[in-house]
Amino acid sequence: MTNVIYLAMEKIAVIGAGTMGNGIAHVFAQNGYPVTLVDVSASQLEKAIEVISKNLERQVGKGTITDAVKTESLSRIKTETDLTKGVADAELVVEAATENTQLKLDIFRQLDAHTSSDCILATNTSSISITKIAAVTKKPGKVIGMHFMNPVPVMKLVEIINGYGTEKWVTEKIIDYTQSLGKTPCAVNDYPGFIANRILMPMINEAIYSLYESVAGVSEIDTVMKLGMAHPMGPLQLADFIGLDVCLAIMRVLHDGFAQPKYAPCPLLVNMVTAGKLGVKSGEGFYFYTPGSKDAVPSSTFSR
Ligand SMILES: NC(=O)c1ccc[n+]([C@@H]2O[C@H](COP(=O)([O-])OP(=O)(O)OC[C@H]3O[C@@H](n4cnc5c(N)ncnc54)[C@H](O)[C@@H]3O)[C@@H](O)[C@H]2O)c1
Repeated sequence: MTNVIYLAMEKIAVIGAGTMGNGIAHVFAQNGYPVTLVDVSASQLEKAIEVISKNLERQVGKGTITDAVKTESLSRIKTETDLTKGVADAELVVEAATENTQLKLDIFRQLDAHTSSDCILATNTSSISITKIAAVTKKPGKVIGMHFMNPVPVMKLVEIINGYGTEKWVTEKIIDYTQSLGKTPCAVNDYPGFIANRILMPMINEAIYSLYESVAGVSEIDTVMKLGMAHPMGPLQLADFIGLDVCLAIMRVLHDGFAQPKYAPCPLLVNMVTAGKLGVKSGEGFYFYTPGSKDAVPSSTFSR
């Protein structure tokens, strides 16, 4: 049973109530922080509260939290569709809106205008430069990456990304926040892909190249990596879960940022995204995700 220690009770605002935003709101609330969850979509906010409630219930079922912790956690989360109101008294904002550069720059301009001068502005971006986001604000020293992993309530790592001008106390404060959530912080610097995606995405891209060049089929590639390297999931299945469009976008960030051919996205990945085969979310990627089936797509589909 987790003992929740109520230390600092700073007010947290989370922007974006999708997959990551609801998980981030969940873990802050469960650890005693009052949270305002902000989204442009009221129905998305409703859905997020349902998901958080279901996930807390699962934890109660497993005996990791009590029913009282579930109730208290939910009572700490407010929802808001107006960003200006949602962040007005926040001491930390964690932005987890859609991965789109212009959208994030626009959100950070608004956050800069409507938060207190000491408020830390963190982003959960998977690939956009923290330095670029910070540059649209008047307080780049207080902008930082706080990259939670999916699913947030389960995964232990938070990759903390220092922008070019992030102030030292801001990094230290985000490390403290991360530890207060029972997670492990890992601080890195702001270069394309940071660490997590700089290493993970080329591995996935190489697995796709191996399939494209008919070195092996989907099941064989994933089995080698699962049983041979003790990975919990093969790289092709992981790509399906992440979304092939997201994998392609991150490979493009690496390719643009480092200008090295080794980061060129595999043509098969490009083709699959163009064809709308995005993995789990579209029902087909390297595997089929029709109800009752999780079969690998036949290798002949992918060969040149
Ligand atoms: N999904 C993952 O596995 C994962 C892992 C790590 C990091 N990330 C990053 O987390 C962020 C969110 O990803 P996600 O998968 O949760 O996306 P998502 O599509 O599930 O959710 C995004 C949410 O942002 C909302 N939104 C859009 N514009 C907004 C605005 N102006 N103000 C407030 N809310 C707005 C949308 O309505 C939606 O609810 C992205 O930056 C992504 O790169 C995702």
